Amino acid sequence: MTEVLVVTEYDVLAEVYEWLISDAKLPPAEFAASFDDVLGLLPSNAHVLDCSCGTGQLAVGLAGRGMQVVATDASEAMVRRTAELSEEFGAAVRAVRANWEELPDHFEDDTFDMVFCVGNSLHHAAGAAGRGAALESMSRLLRPGGRLVLTSRTWELVRSRGSRLDIRDRLVRRNGRDAVVIYRWEIAPHWEDEHHIEIAIAQVDATGSVLVRSELLSCWPYRYEELKGELHRVGLRTEVSTFDLEAENYMVVASKV
Ligand SMILES: C[S@@+](CC[C@H](N)C(=O)[O-])C[C@H]1O[C@@H](n2cnc3c(N)ncnc32)[C@H](O)[C@@H]1O
Repeated sequence: MTEVLVVTEYDVLAEVYEWLISDAKLPPAEFAASFDDVLGLLPSNAHVLDCSCGTGQLAVGLAGRGMQVVATDASEAMVRRTAELSEEFGAAVRAVRANWEELPDHFEDDTFDMVFCVGNSLHHAAGAAGRGAALESMSRLLRPGGRLVLTSRTWELVRSRGSRLDIRDRLVRRNGRDAVVIYRWEIAPHWEDEHHIEIAIAQVDATGSVLVRSELLSCWPYRYEELKGELHRVGLRTEVSTFDLEAENYMVVASKV
């Protein structure tokens, strides 16, 4: 039988994703420490799921605290990088390729004490229906009283700026190479339309040659008020919210009723 290779968004960015993670969150322990307040609510051997794990810094950081960690992502390349990072740190992270909608095929209901969906991931769910299905999966996997930890861009702010080019004004150095990171925001006329973010990482080496990796990502923005209603509809009650119309990002912690 021929094996079919499924290419998803982020497979290209996975190769160069470290240039997109801030210095502060690159070490796994520090990424996990950025969630100290919510992690304090868990027993040290808690079962946790990072359901858009990217290159695995959070998952590996959580495993380093003694938690039993599963890391999933839609992108095979991201899952591979998470497995490699786990091995490098000697962490016992189970890494599985799964879309949010597929999670109930892989795990029993009521399995996890905490599910993380962080780092600007949820906007990749296709519109209100896709987001609802994704949140429903996350909710099913939580045990009663378990919590979903979600971080999000403040789309109210992003949309108010309109389409634009954002060229970062400093070189980012990773693995001995400098790169310029460029974001191109394509803001559609209506909230419910498909939007795009094009991300390019241009690495400049010592000889002056430039290697560019880029991807055009689809996303569907949502207002905070919509998200709150969607969480409620899948049985999640918002306990903590840092939403602020003037801040770039916010965090919501919602517990399963
Ligand atoms: C911006 S990255 C964030 C990665 C990581 N959480 C972080 O903070 O560095 C978004 C991630 O969401 C994943 N993703 C996008 N759509 C997904 C889906 N439908 N199901 C699961 N993961 C998805 C992407 O593959 C990517 O790794």
